[in-house]
Amino acid sequence: MMSQGLVIMSYVIASILFILSLSGLSHPETARRGNYLGMAGMSIAILATLFSDAVDSYVVLIIALAIGGFIGTKAALKVEMTQMPELVALMHSLVGMAAVLVGYANFMDSSNSLVGIEHTIHEVEIYIGVFIGAVTFSGSVIAFGKLCGKIDGKPVLLPGRHWLNLSLFVATFWLAGVFLDGVATGGGTFALILMTLLALTFGVHMVMAIGGADMPVVVSMLNSYSGWAAAATGFMLNNDLLIVTGALVGSSGAILSYIMCKAMNRHFLSVIAGGFGSASGEAATVEGDVAPIENDETVQIINAANNIVIIPGYGMAVAQAQHTVNEITKLLRAKGKNVRFGIHPVAGRMPGHMNVLLAEAKVPYDIVFEMDEINPDFPQTDVTIVIGANDIVNPSALDDPNSPIAGMPVLECWKSTTTIVLKRSMATGYAGVGNPLFIHENTRMLFGDANESMQAVLKSLNA
Ligand code: TAP
Repeated sequence: MMSQGLVIMSYVIASILFILSLSGLSHPETARRGNYLGMAGMSIAILATLFSDAVDSYVVLIIALAIGGFIGTKAALKVEMTQMPELVALMHSLVGMAAVLVGYANFMDSSNSLVGIEHTIHEVEIYIGVFIGAVTFSGSVIAFGKLCGKIDGKPVLLPGRHWLNLSLFVATFWLAGVFLDGVATGGGTFALILMTLLALTFGVHMVMAIGGADMPVVVSMLNSYSGWAAAATGFMLNNDLLIVTGALVGSSGAILSYIMCKAMNRHFLSVIAGGFGSASGEAATVEGDVAPIENDETVQIINAANNIVIIPGYGMAVAQAQHTVNEITKLLRAKGKNVRFGIHPVAGRMPGHMNVLLAEAKVPYDIVFEMDEINPDFPQTDVTIVIGANDIVNPSALDDPNSPIAGMPVLECWKSTTTIVLKRSMATGYAGVGNPLFIHENTRMLFGDANESMQAVLKSLNA
């Protein structure tokens, strides 16, 4: 057993490591270090908890750790990079479920000796913890379903949905009063269960109402909620480290949601309320001739170009084309061409998705640019190569007010002399909207799996 002082000191060190970890994670070059610091912090936190006097049955604990550790390791080994976002959503749901379970366990714990105002505060903590936990749980399960395609990505807009949300909120507040009155006389169970059901409904309804293109905000928002759920658990268990860690996750998730909203030109509240941009008229359909090209012509165009911009999207992740793309980049740069990457903030399926893939393939950071940095350069670009991206290069976001992605800033590649789009078919992207870029007069479509196409191009460039 560790002394209480030693436990507190370990918690302080773990908290500091978590903060340093977050600052490391803010840049690709220091991200690896950030991860190690986070792991060290978490190891210290787990050890300190294991040896603290809060544990009274090691048998149960070890069995739980073994089962959890086994499932976690199996999942982590099995998951494909493209399934990462779903896994993250699923993890968030577990944090939510933990908060609900801890809340109920605390509620039923008869050994609790708190009295008076302290007792009331504890019950309020339980109520809030269970509420946040239940919303996080059901919302994350739906987000998981949407991200892995088990649930249709289209927003489900119930008539009077804002009223439904409002009534759920009012009912939750009212039930809080009923719960606290009940607790004072030894009851409150029914109110707590009813509120849990309402919170679960709210989570489902909130995420169901959010359309495909707004999912990035949902992912970061649920990330934030899971942090607040952990912090609420910390309050219930009187554990300072859990409060600090939860607050760190909660606030960094909130900042990320803000950044995502800004990137998509959305108001946070309208995303949460759901159905943004889907209430207006029909989006224009895309009709026109497509100009497909083959490998030879692609290589000719690339060979003739000096300024080249590459735009990766979700399809690059699916095709795992990043390594081939890096080989091509090295080759073209060796030939003296100016090759740069343009990254859209919501490219792929999770924040920083493309940056992770490019870093994995060892593309130098100094040629990777954000959307705002590269957008003014398209008119001077000879060729833009779009690798498995769709929504993030859709001009209708700018000129069709009825498009579900209207108002979202996009990479304006159609302004370059030629745009080559690599994808397998004319299928739409995540938001399910047609893309006029594909029939633009400067666009050529190179159909096929992105990695196979890139490998063929690499071979010809080498020849
Ligand atoms: P998408 O719009 O989803 O387009 C990806 C394209 O890649 C598809 O049109 C697909 O066309 C193509 N593709 C798939 N597999 C391919 C392969 N093996 N080889 C070649 N092409 C392939 O992706 P995006 O442009 O990156 O935009 C991201 C979208 O996801 C946005 O709508 C965004 O809001 C949403 N979203 C983002 C996040 C975050 S946080 N980044 C989270 C959730 C949702 P084919 O089928 O014809 O090949």
